[in-house]
Amino acid sequence: MCGIYGFIGDGTVEDLVNGLKKLEYRGYDSAGIAFAKNGSLIIEKHTGKVDQLREFLSSNLEKRIHAGIAHTRWATHGVPNDLNAHPQSDCTHKIAVVHNGIIENFSTLRSQLQAEGHKFVSQTDTEVVAHLVEKYFNGDLLEAVRRAVEDLNGTYAIGVLHSDVKNEIIFARRKSPLVVASDGKRSFCASDVTPLISSVRDVMFLEDGQLARLTAGDFEIFESTSKNVDKKFHHIDWNEKDAEKGGFKHFMLKEIYEEPRVISDALTGRTYGGRIAFDELSEWKDYLKNLNKLNVVACGTSYHAGLIFKYFFENLRPFNIEVEVSSEYRYRNVFVDDKTLTIAISQSGETADTLESIRLVKSLGGKVLAISNVVGSTLTREADKTLYINAGPEISVASTKAYIGQMMVLYLLALHIDSIMDGKHPEIVKSLNKLPEIMDNFITSSNSKIKKVANKYVGYANFMYVGRGINFPSALEGALKLKEISYTNAVGYQAGELKHGPIALLDEKFPVMAVAVSDELKEKMISNILETKARNAHVVAILTEGDSDVSSVVNDSIHLPKLPHYLYPFLVGSAFQLFAYHVADGRNLSIDMPRNLAKSVTVE
Ligand code: AGP
Repeated sequence: MCGIYGFIGDGTVEDLVNGLKKLEYRGYDSAGIAFAKNGSLIIEKHTGKVDQLREFLSSNLEKRIHAGIAHTRWATHGVPNDLNAHPQSDCTHKIAVVHNGIIENFSTLRSQLQAEGHKFVSQTDTEVVAHLVEKYFNGDLLEAVRRAVEDLNGTYAIGVLHSDVKNEIIFARRKSPLVVASDGKRSFCASDVTPLISSVRDVMFLEDGQLARLTAGDFEIFESTSKNVDKKFHHIDWNEKDAEKGGFKHFMLKEIYEEPRVISDALTGRTYGGRIAFDELSEWKDYLKNLNKLNVVACGTSYHAGLIFKYFFENLRPFNIEVEVSSEYRYRNVFVDDKTLTIAISQSGETADTLESIRLVKSLGGKVLAISNVVGSTLTREADKTLYINAGPEISVASTKAYIGQMMVLYLLALHIDSIMDGKHPEIVKSLNKLPEIMDNFITSSNSKIKKVANKYVGYANFMYVGRGINFPSALEGALKLKEISYTNAVGYQAGELKHGPIALLDEKFPVMAVAVSDELKEKMISNILETKARNAHVVAILTEGDSDVSSVVNDSIHLPKLPHYLYPFLVGSAFQLFAYHVADGRNLSIDMPRNLAKSVTVE
């Protein structure tokens, strides 16, 4: 939540705005920048998105600057308005601060600072940081920031610029991510790597409690005690083009079209003949062989991928698998022992509740395996081991290709653990390898058909998504996708649960999205569909092509090719994503940046 970007070295105002634009998916309530010109601090900040800021700055975009910091906000303290936008400043108007996170003791600090004579102008928690730096500044900006953050409780990634300190900008982190890099002429810091990859590939992720001093040609990292820290670099091989729209109307659609490639990249180097090999897990052979419990923790879409993993694994062998939303798991009195593995799934690797869950597991002596998309993210640094999904940057707030990639890595993991426990499923491995081509054919041939169906339902205000077995989590995910990008009430249920309450909602204005593919639960699904039809609901079924048992009883159909049952969640996932996309597009909504949301949820 919130994007921070800054650089020092020769550049322009436009460079600052361009960097910020790449972080916009982290929050877009307001945007702002700060830089120093002729010894004065210039701050420009406005409610709205980065493009609005760009418009405000249009006559100044080419202005040369030596250093600047920028921020795109997801509001926590104070409504989104110009005053609450970052950067925030101090009484002398020399210090600019951008912040991501929540300062939990801001109210106490604010009262103390007010009693000392400081004047506040915003409702933000961030403004206290600017006044604290002012209070402690005596010529050494690093030291002032170090002392200021000592006073803070809560979480922060902050960037600080002082108009009297020409040759450095300072950043500090506790629990909210920051990444630093330098190309020898300019040094950069950002909330994630996306604005950096056009200039540098070797980056350093700040650890909790660390501070970074950036100068034009280099950067230094310090512990909170001021001790200088050795640099540890991560190489990022994301393609810069992946973070551009490439002719698609929205990132979301582009990312759905990337799904076949994502599946293929997730498979690369991990299957040999009918076997799975994870080099990353080679040291864990004995541990995995003796496991008797799997815990899965995740949020949102990643949680749904975790649920599908449970169904898939249980199909391979009966096993004790618990899948829990991180924001609940972390507050429970959980059981973890040396035969338990906790799998934490997070696209961003920065989701606060998931991080706290793994900290809980580790404090109990448990082992954690991360499934993530972001190299060097906090989750991957804190987990014992990581399997990357290699989906490339996912820009749209609605997760699509990362979900498909997570599922594939989780399927491979299930097969890997099962094979260590003596299972053999070469036919499944073979079919997974065929999936990229199947997905490619499906997405390219079905997009316009799904759009036609979606257009019929653009005007409906409520949707019920249902499925059974391994396709039940697909129903939850389909409903989440529709909710988040089209602001439509959509609920996901196990189809068998309808009659226990939710069916009371249904009438001709409440359509049902039913996953009724040709698997062993199809007949049960047909019964559930008929029950909803008897209440006049319109039914859109995702079914297997040629299956007239289903098509004859529903209003609209989305056809999938005949597949082994465990492959359906991939295609159902894409089909529901496309349906949600076209409903939202039919309403002309801000698909990539839906209201009230942010891509990376770094608050609890
Ligand atoms: C997905 O479309 C959502 N935007 C959201 O539910 C997301 O999956 C969730 O916040 C978890 O994020 P993570 O995978 O980065 O941890």
